[in-house]
Amino acid sequence: MAVIEVALAGREYDVRVEAGLLADIAGQCGALLRKARVPIVTDENVHRLWSETVEASLANAGKEARWMIHAPGESAKSWDGLSRTVEWLLAEEVERGDHIIALGGGVIGDLTGFAASMLKRGCGFVQVPTTLLAQVDSSVGGKTAINVAAGKNLVGAFHQPSLVLADTAVLSTLPDREMRCGYAEVIKYGILGDAEFFAWCEAHGTDVLAHDATAVELAVTKSVHAKARIVAEDERETSGARALLNLGHTFGHSLEAETGYSGRLLHGEAVALGMVLAARYSARRGYISDAEVQRITAAINSAGLPVEISALGLDCSGEALANHMLHDKKMDAGTLPFILLRGIGEAFLDHNVALSDIADFLSEQLQVH
Ligand code: NAD
Ligand code: GLY
Repeated sequence: MAVIEVALAGREYDVRVEAGLLADIAGQCGALLRKARVPIVTDENVHRLWSETVEASLANAGKEARWMIHAPGESAKSWDGLSRTVEWLLAEEVERGDHIIALGGGVIGDLTGFAASMLKRGCGFVQVPTTLLAQVDSSVGGKTAINVAAGKNLVGAFHQPSLVLADTAVLSTLPDREMRCGYAEVIKYGILGDAEFFAWCEAHGTDVLAHDATAVELAVTKSVHAKARIVAEDERETSGARALLNLGHTFGHSLEAETGYSGRLLHGEAVALGMVLAARYSARRGYISDAEVQRITAAINSAGLPVEISALGLDCSGEALANHMLHDKKMDAGTLPFILLRGIGEAFLDHNVALSDIADFLSEQLQVH
């Protein structure tokens, strides 16, 4: 088992990565589960596929699972989903010293973490991520949020879990498209800060997507190491280090907004395309070679992820896409820092990007076939 520590003074916690952890969830959580009734927030898909495994482990430890089951998808990350979760936790008499289990993808993790951050002014929670995206990204680092009318993830809190259990075997039931979305976040760590890991992804990305157990475990472990190091350095995204994790996200969010945050373009797909756009824009600014842009594009394309905006069939201008970026959380006193590349493994924050230039660039990209 790989154990990666997220080293936050006074709030440090472990991320454990291994196939089969879910079947031992009671043992893994140990004393974090103080009571016989264990509150678990999940969604219908994960409950259908994995609740028996969880219940068996808890029953062996003399405990009973208490379920809050949301409909799958982003709709759970809403005021309604939050208030129903918090009211349910209160009815379950969860106390400040208790731990709630978040069993699911990034939606369940973000929602449960936010509920835990406010319940009785903050109680504990354990992240048990069941998508590749959640294992390599959202379950680590304590960002929690819901979506509101003004935009995605605009209301939330930093609230770190006490433990993260990444059971790579649960990915066996994940649909291929969701696996590819998670892989976009895996390759992101190589592109932004680790050229050697990027080269590993070029060679082994297809193994990860084919659920090769060794490749999946290595991909999750390497990704969590990278994220844990960045979170420990810049927990609240104030120094610029953590902001680099948003590589591809500014372009990606504008495409998600334009496609209505729908199944037309999933978050991981938008990030993948966003990373290609960030690389192309970096080349336009003279920071990175065309050969490196080609390598990034080829690696993302060969994972079955999108690399051209034109393939989305959008009916909008580059300016309209750039305008979505005005709602970006990184917006600071009228300027939007962009994460660009000086090379593969060398992301940096550029504070001197004019949105009008981004609009021109996106207009050109809309024409590329
Ligand atoms: P998700 O939670 O919606 O899960 C995707 C789908 O997979 C859902 O239909 C779910 O029911 C299903 N599923 C989950 N586990 C499964 C399994 N083992 N087998 C079969 N089906 C399974 O989506 P996601 O991609 O995991 O997460 C996206 C969310 O994460 C977004 O809301 C995004 O904003 C958030 N996010 C947060 C952070 C953070 O740092 N907090 C980082 C990245 C993304
Ligand atoms: N997913 C970006 C972050 O956690 O900062």
